Amino acid sequence: MKPIKVGLLGIGTVGAGTFTVLKRNAEEISRRAGRRIEITMVADLDVARALALTDGECEVVNDASLIINHPEIDIVIELIGGAGIARTLVLQAIANGKHVVTANKALLALHGNEIFKAAQEKGVIVAFEAAVAGGIPIIKVLRESLTANRIEWVAGIINGTTNFILSEMRDKGIDFTTALSGAMQLGYAEADPTVDIEGIDAGHKATLMASIAFGIPVQFGKAHVEGITKLQSVDIGYAEQLGYRIKLLAIAKRTPLGIELRVHPTLIPTRRLIANVEGAMNAVLVQADAVGATMYYGKGAGAEPTASAVIADLIDISRLFTAQPDHRVPHLAFQPDAMTDTPILPMAEITTSYYLRMHVADQLGVLATVTRILADSDISIDAMLQKEPAGGASETDIIILTHLTQEKCVDAAIARIEALATVIGKVTRIRLEELE
Ligand code: HSE
Repeated sequence: MKPIKVGLLGIGTVGAGTFTVLKRNAEEISRRAGRRIEITMVADLDVARALALTDGECEVVNDASLIINHPEIDIVIELIGGAGIARTLVLQAIANGKHVVTANKALLALHGNEIFKAAQEKGVIVAFEAAVAGGIPIIKVLRESLTANRIEWVAGIINGTTNFILSEMRDKGIDFTTALSGAMQLGYAEADPTVDIEGIDAGHKATLMASIAFGIPVQFGKAHVEGITKLQSVDIGYAEQLGYRIKLLAIAKRTPLGIELRVHPTLIPTRRLIANVEGAMNAVLVQADAVGATMYYGKGAGAEPTASAVIADLIDISRLFTAQPDHRVPHLAFQPDAMTDTPILPMAEITTSYYLRMHVADQLGVLATVTRILADSDISIDAMLQKEPAGGASETDIIILTHLTQEKCVDAAIARIEALATVIGKVTRIRLEELE
């Protein structure tokens, strides 16, 4: 059969990995795909580097439009990143009848509805396994393998940079800034780490998982996104003493009121498998009604792990090449006319448990007043830790874990607690998920 011709936009780390793996495993891949898959053109602004990486095996250009307008290119791989020029190029490739493979989570989280609609109308595939959790095939799992189930929730550690930083903070007892600079030196964090450490990258990925888990449009703007920059090592230590580990968790949960879609530092019981995912590794835990809990673990970034996902998409498209568009797997798992408008809940309406730390004057009645405020706010206490004041000190920390409660009750209680003359400074609040 005629080989599938692929054009690659952007030959950075993942592009180079894709080129290498496609070449190394060419025979095995064509046995699976039923035909050869060949990258015949590469577009990159750094032509000299692209020429060196491709070593004369394909045409190298510095103008992406030469690929997306080329009549012989069947599939365009978009590895440019960002939601700017990548959006224009992907929409143009779709308009030209090309299938698209992308690792671009920002693009799909922000413009996915527009892109999938255009692809649907044109009868082409936009595949994005590499956009979420790198080498872990979580898109395939949610979209194809668990289709018998009603998915209840998805909880993931889907940002390696922040997981590495949190592991370092816990293992070495260092603060966030020191751990971040170590991560940068070791290449685990970008020169500008903002999208990772502020939780934005995980928010993009969670948005995509929520859409395919529940059949809702892509709505990054309604996700609650909170990173790890304000996390203090003292809280990591107290959490450990109480049997919990703090992770940047991405949560997409179906509730009777709507969908919770949130990314924030979260206490997880240390006995859970996912709490023990350390360093730059990723993991996603899925709770579904028929199968129960399943967990997927692996490398969420890197040249060849991400290439593994990109090439799996290429093979899927090659296999589906001749299938009628309406016989293919829907982009967002559910048929386009069967998507629902179930609302994404505002944070005030979400339900979870909480870790609260307050610094208080060590005086008679302080604890009684705090617990009275919690009771008045419908918040039930699950556990408590009060440290003995350090020698000679007259202030101490109180740590309280709550049972499940609504965020708005906690907001109200914290406001009242912070107004007490005996409470010094702000109350630290970290959400807690038992993941049962
Ligand atoms: N920067 C991401 C991470 C990988 O740290 O996991 C690409 O999404």
